[in-house]
Amino acid sequence: MKTFYLETFGCQMNVHDSEKVVGTLLARGYRRVDDPGQADLILYNTCSIREKAEQKVYSRLQQFRREAGAGKLFGVLGCVAQQEGERIFERAPHVALVCGSASYRRLPELLDRIEAGDRRVAGLDLDTDETFETPFTRRDSPYRAYLTIIEGCDKDCSFCVVPFTRGRERSRPSESIMREARQLAAAGYTEIQLLGQNVSSYRDPSPAGWDFATLLEQVAGIPGLRRVRFTTSHPRDFDRRIVRAIEENPVLANHVHLPVQSGSNRVLERMRRQYSREEYLEKIGWLKNARRPIAISTDIIVGFPGETEEDFRQTLSLLDEVGYDSVFSFKYSARPNTAALALDGHLPEQEKSRRLAILQEKQRAIQLRRNSEWIGRRVEVLVENFNPGTGQWVGRTSENRVVNFTSPQGPAEALAGRYVEVHVTRAGPNSLAGELAV
Ligand code: 5AD
Ligand code: SF4
Repeated sequence: MKTFYLETFGCQMNVHDSEKVVGTLLARGYRRVDDPGQADLILYNTCSIREKAEQKVYSRLQQFRREAGAGKLFGVLGCVAQQEGERIFERAPHVALVCGSASYRRLPELLDRIEAGDRRVAGLDLDTDETFETPFTRRDSPYRAYLTIIEGCDKDCSFCVVPFTRGRERSRPSESIMREARQLAAAGYTEIQLLGQNVSSYRDPSPAGWDFATLLEQVAGIPGLRRVRFTTSHPRDFDRRIVRAIEENPVLANHVHLPVQSGSNRVLERMRRQYSREEYLEKIGWLKNARRPIAISTDIIVGFPGETEEDFRQTLSLLDEVGYDSVFSFKYSARPNTAALALDGHLPEQEKSRRLAILQEKQRAIQLRRNSEWIGRRVEVLVENFNPGTGQWVGRTSENRVVNFTSPQGPAEALAGRYVEVHVTRAGPNSLAGELAV
């Protein structure tokens, strides 16, 4: 029997793509192994959003180069595969398969060719038939599922490589989404996370013509589902109807991820984000005034070309003004093909690091304060697993807060996958801690 090893880098989209690839390989009779040394086929599902992510795959490939002769086959999947294409064969001649995310439906055919002895096989079309219908998807969790609703991105942000790695925006027909969501609910999944680079511009291509808010309402109405999340929304397309849908339907989780990138209008303009700080804050206002509290998280890039000290201060002041529940922050990284490469004012690495550290320290204090407000309260947690190192169960609230908690019976209690009430006794910047409430 043939064996494979697969390592995944990058975002939830990539994690979910890997679930599709794993399912395809298992259906072909491959067996998954945890040690690349034991695998006949070694696959990396790659990310190219920042240079560091991209370099990881090359260092992995370097690491195992010597073993290529021993009958092992190597494959590069995902965003670096799409971006670098056949150049990967030159840089890493022991790679046999290069395949971008839009071509995973062709994987069986590509594997046929490899198994027949072809040593350079590539699937790099960005306009192939959709990968939405994936009968073999093998999900990692038995109760929390990712579900793709839209692929690609038509926004034109000057820093971002995604339009080049994942292509134009394609929405999945609503009946196909609903079918998979119903199957998931029937299989016992209670939480679904709708995925796409820009879910808020979802537009049903079938005659039903649903927009994103309608899709949310419909998915949330499926019996058996208790939490429906979605990621990522672009602020430009994030409309009031989405907030109203959340307000009216408690199954829609109390959390919205709304990447702002910068608090300075001058930088937002140079990033081509298509909204101003004021327009963004207006949307934040809708969330803050919603009928029930909704947690808000964001992404921020520091050190974008031409970002002045004053621009950076405006990003810091935005953190105060919004009071985010969590922030993913990054140093700007120059990416191939993107418009920002040609901008002037690229900042030294050291200065980007300095700004990132200041921003992260500020946000840490904000989160500690916000999380502390939960001490003494009860929260509902979907339990994920037991951490033997700390003797605590780990789960998440509807707000997507991580909660570590003890239960009187410890690991014996089989809580994974259940919704339980936890009494919060402590708070850190990144999580809450407490005890199972009885
Ligand atoms: N450099 C740094 N961060 C980036 N992101 C996207 N492109 C870049 C880049 N070139 C960040 C953005 C995005 C998140 C997924 O990654 O903040 O929202
Ligand atoms: Fe990385 Fe973006 Fe590709 Fe996700 S879509 S894997 S974040 S480059």
